[in-house]
Amino acid sequence: MTDPAPLLRRMVDDLTSTGVLDPPWREAFLAVPRHAFIPDTIWRQQRRELVPFHRADDPLRWLEMTYAPTQVLITQVDDGNPVGPGLIGDRISSSASQPNVVALMLAALTAEPGMTVCEIGTGTGYNAALLAHRLGAQNVTTIEVDAELATRAGGALAAAGYARVTVVTGDGAHGYPPRAPYDRILSTAAVGQVPSAWVEQTRPGGRVVTPWGTAYLNGALLALTVGEDNTATGRLVDNVAFMWLRDQRLPLTWVRDCVYDEDKALVSHTHIQPSKVTDDYHAALAIGLQVPECEYRFCRAKDDSGEYTVWFLDPSSRSWASIDYAPGAETYEVNQLGPRHLWDEVEAAYTWWVQANSPTSDQWRFTITPTGQHVDLTGTLRREHAPTIAKGA
Ligand SMILES: C[S@@+](CC[C@H](N)C(=O)[O-])C[C@H]1O[C@@H](n2cnc3c(N)ncnc32)[C@H](O)[C@@H]1O
Repeated sequence: MTDPAPLLRRMVDDLTSTGVLDPPWREAFLAVPRHAFIPDTIWRQQRRELVPFHRADDPLRWLEMTYAPTQVLITQVDDGNPVGPGLIGDRISSSASQPNVVALMLAALTAEPGMTVCEIGTGTGYNAALLAHRLGAQNVTTIEVDAELATRAGGALAAAGYARVTVVTGDGAHGYPPRAPYDRILSTAAVGQVPSAWVEQTRPGGRVVTPWGTAYLNGALLALTVGEDNTATGRLVDNVAFMWLRDQRLPLTWVRDCVYDEDKALVSHTHIQPSKVTDDYHAALAIGLQVPECEYRFCRAKDDSGEYTVWFLDPSSRSWASIDYAPGAETYEVNQLGPRHLWDEVEAAYTWWVQANSPTSDQWRFTITPTGQHVDLTGTLRREHAPTIAKGA
C-alpha cells in the first residue's frame, strides 16, 4: 500500500494553513490515521444516484480521497441496504464528515484534555478517535444508532489504540445516562429540535454543539452553554450541512410526488425575484424558522434560457407552490395549491426579514428548556420586529 503519511501531513498542513484547525487539535489530527476508519466501499454522488466505489478498483484514489481536507466520504447508504442494483443507493445514511468540518466542530466544542464527552453519531469512529487522543479514550462515549456501524467503529477504534472508548449502540437522542454527566456533548447528526436529554446530561457550564437546521435550510452549527436549571442558551456559530438525526429525518421528497392538479392551482404574481428567498443564507434561515415543514427545490431549465422554477413543498399537508423566473421579467408567476399557501408564507417571512434589517444567523438566540426549544432574535431590532418562535419539545 502507498505510504499514507505524506497524505496525512498534507491534509493537516492544509487544515492549518486555512486556519480551520485549532492548534491544540493538530497533534490528534497528525496521530489518527484517517484511512484506518474508512470502509473499503464508499459511495459517490452521480446525479441522483449514489454509486459505489471500491478500494480494490483504485487503491491510490481511495487513499487520496480519505485524506482530502474538504471531501465528505459517504460510508453507508439506505441504512445499510442499498435499494438499487449493484449497491446503488438512494439516500446517504452515514458518512465521514469533511476533515475541515470535523476541525471546525471540534474548535467550537472548546474541549480540554481530561474532560468527558459524549458524541452522537459514531459513524466511522474517526471523530471519536480524535476526541480520544486529546481527551483520553476513557473519557469518550460515542453513540451510533446503526449496530453494524457501531461494531465496525468499535473495531477500528481498538485497532488504532483507543479501545477504552465506550461505543454504544442506541438512539443518541436520549443521550447515554449511565456515563452522564458530560462536560461536552457533540452531535455529528443534524437536529431541528435539540433533545432535552442532551442538556440534562451536560454539567452546568458545559457545552452542547450540534448541527441544526430547518426543512427549508439544513446548514448551521449551534453551540449551547448549559445553565444550572436544565436549560441551555446559545447561538449559531457556523454554517455546516449534516444528515439528520435518524428520529428527525424527513422523508425523501421529490417534486414529481408532491405536485398534483397543476391546472387547479391558484395563480398570482410577485415582484420578488425567486433567488432572493433561496440564495441568501441569512434570509433562508429566517424563512425556515417562520415557515415550518417547507422544503424547496430549484429546477433550472434544460436549455440555456436562464429560466428556472423554484418549488416549495410540504408533503405532510399536501401543499405545493411554484414560482417561475425568466431573465428580464419584472414580475414572476406563482402557482400554489393545498391547505397552505406556501409562497405567501415564504414571501411574508422574507419581507419581514428585509424590514427587520436583514438579521444574520448569529442574531438568533436559542434557549432549550425541558419543555422545548425557543428561538428569538437578539440585538438592535425594534421590538415589533422581533418574533419569538417557540417550537414544541
Ligand atoms: C455524519 S455521520 C457521523 C460521522 C462520524 N462522527 C465520523 O467520525 O465518522 C452521522 C451518523 O449519525 C448516525 N445517527 C443518526 N441518527 C442517530 C441517532 N438517533 N443516534 C445515534 N446515531 C445516529 C448515523 O447512523 C451516522 O452514522
